[in-house]
Amino acid sequence: MAKTEETKMDKIISLAKRKGFVFQGSEIYGGLAGTWDFGPYGVALRNNIKGLWWKKFVTDREDMYGVDAAILMNQEVWKSSGHVGGFSDPLVECKKCKHRFRADQLEDAKKCPDCEGQLGEARQFNMMFKTNIGAAEDATSISYLRPETAQGMFVNFKNVVDSFHPRLPFGLAQIGKAFRNEIAPRDFVFRSREFEQMEIEYFVDPRDPKKVQATFEELYGEQINFLKELGLSSDKIHKIEVPDADRAHYSKRSVDTEFDFPFGQKELLGIAYRTDFDLKAHTDSSKVDLSYFDEETKERFIPHCIEPTFGLDRLLLAVLSDAYTEDEIDGEKRVYLKFSPKVAPVKVAVFPLLKNKPQLVEKAREIYMMLRKEIPGVMFDDNGNIGKRYRRQDEIGTPFCITIDFDTVEKGSGVTVRERDGGKQERIEIDKLISYIKEKVS
Ligand code: GLY
Repeated sequence: MAKTEETKMDKIISLAKRKGFVFQGSEIYGGLAGTWDFGPYGVALRNNIKGLWWKKFVTDREDMYGVDAAILMNQEVWKSSGHVGGFSDPLVECKKCKHRFRADQLEDAKKCPDCEGQLGEARQFNMMFKTNIGAAEDATSISYLRPETAQGMFVNFKNVVDSFHPRLPFGLAQIGKAFRNEIAPRDFVFRSREFEQMEIEYFVDPRDPKKVQATFEELYGEQINFLKELGLSSDKIHKIEVPDADRAHYSKRSVDTEFDFPFGQKELLGIAYRTDFDLKAHTDSSKVDLSYFDEETKERFIPHCIEPTFGLDRLLLAVLSDAYTEDEIDGEKRVYLKFSPKVAPVKVAVFPLLKNKPQLVEKAREIYMMLRKEIPGVMFDDNGNIGKRYRRQDEIGTPFCITIDFDTVEKGSGVTVRERDGGKQERIEIDKLISYIKEKVS
């Protein structure tokens, strides 16, 4: 890892905490490894990413059905899906200090990186968090925190088909938390034990393999379009065809999308051709028929599934690290987040030029209230001088700042709108303000 990149990541983590985006989980008790809490701007950023995703992949399409399944599921789900048997990472333990590592992440498979002691043999470590449901603690009460949201959609396939009678191809989509007991959580929110996924299980007719491949490509293209909608730099996005040996147990073809994070090029998204693996496995185990009847050809078959999957926390980190910028403005160094206005937690901040002039404050609050009704993410600030207020908004990535001055109240000559990246200012009439801002942030 390059020294400069390390420094950049440290700065991003520090800014994320200082400005209320991301905090360490359970911080006042010393933290809990692999967990993160999101503060007000982190929540707003996540909600904006989720909202854009849901709009693009669910509400703007006729072929998608949203679901929200329970996190806890019958243990049979995870036996059938292959997770109980095979969802594991290789674990090694140091014979001397007893620290544990992921075998495939070590530079030297024999020597402990902490104490240089001898490492034991690698064994498979299942990454699912196990728990018991209800008061009984026996084999029948075992359940798991879901390691992927996908299974909640496979087990609801028949419910959606029976209620909505969709014709193939169609997809189920879900946003929700997932949990993996990572041996080595690392790189801030990149690899955590509790995280949020946005997944689609898209069901297709397997009798036309060419069309299946075309749909795979189309959905892959939509994943990349989504990254562009978030404002991510195209030159940091890389397509990786996953080799046979590295694919998940259920996948016939997988394409990962990697991103240039400050700590290197790493997986951001994936798309997998899960074939009929899951519906077939659940049909076999549950004895409930999860096939599909084609009214036109009068044939019954198990649909195949293509799964585009997105990790919300990784997207947030990609957006945050890509946006982090240092430059100089008005002869002063500044740090700012160059968020696309679509994802920015605060879209516009409203200031009275001076705090101690009631006519300016009153007018600024009036404009602030007017904008709040129409635009999500409007903030009022009258603390410190204008320069300090700009710097504060730049640091949280607010794309526009509006200042109410004496000309606004005395001459009715509009307000000043200052744009974040170049600091350019424009005078805009108050009755045009809502449409001016709306057009730029949506
Ligand atoms: N559902 C795919 C994954 O969680 O990686």
